Amino acid sequence: MFNTMTVTKAAGALIGSLLFLLLASWFASSLYHVGPTGHVAEGEAHPQAYSIAVADAEAGGEEAAAEEGPDFATLLASADAAAGEKVFGKCKACHKVDGTDGVGPHLNGVVGRAVASVGGFSYSDPMTAHGGAWDPEPLQVFLTDPKGVVPGTKMAFAGLKKAEERANLIAYLQSVQ
Ligand code: HEC
Repeated sequence: MFNTMTVTKAAGALIGSLLFLLLASWFASSLYHVGPTGHVAEGEAHPQAYSIAVADAEAGGEEAAAEEGPDFATLLASADAAAGEKVFGKCKACHKVDGTDGVGPHLNGVVGRAVASVGGFSYSDPMTAHGGAWDPEPLQVFLTDPKGVVPGTKMAFAGLKKAEERANLIAYLQSVQ
C-alpha cells in the first residue's frame, strides 16, 4: 500500500538524488573543463556550466581570504597585555608611560587619545595634519607601517609586522592610563 507518507518520502529521495547529481555534474565540469576555448562545438549548455563553476570558485576565494586570520578586534579581545609590555620594549627608547615625554610623546592613555594632542610636545607637521584619534584600529594600522601611514612622521620606527604583537601591545597600552 502506498500512503501519502510513502509517496512523499519517495519523491523527496528522488529530488534529493537529482540535486546531488546536478551538483556533482557542476563540480565535475569545474574539474574537467579545460578552458573557454575547449569545447566550442558542444553548444550553449557548456559555457553556462562553466560560468557557474567560476562563480562558485569566486565565492570560495572570498571565504579563503576571510580565513587568513581573525580580524584585529578579535585578536585584541584575547590579547595578552603582559606579552604586550615586552613588545613595548621596542618603543621605550623614545616613549614613556609615566606622563613625561621623551623623543616621542608619552603613551600612557594613548588609546582613544586625539592624534598629536599632547600639549608641549613638538609634533611634525604631517602628524599634526593627520587628525583622528588613536582608537585600536587606526593605531594598529599606524604601528604596522608608521612611515607608510603618516608619510614624513619623525617617528623613526620600521613597524610591527605581526598582528599578534600589535594586539598584545595595544592591550598593554590600554592598561596604562
Ligand atoms: C626612535 C624613536 C621612536 C620609537 C622607537 C617609537 N616611536 Fe612612536 N613616536 C616617536 C616620535 C618622534 C613621535 C612623534 C611623531 C611625529 O610628530 O611625527 C612618535 C609618535 C607616536 C605616536 C603618536 C602619538 C600622538 O600623541 O599622536 C604613537 C601612537 C606612537 N608613536 C607609538 C609608538 C609605539 C607603540 C612604538 C613601539 C612599537 C613607537 N611609537 C616607537 C618616536 C618613536
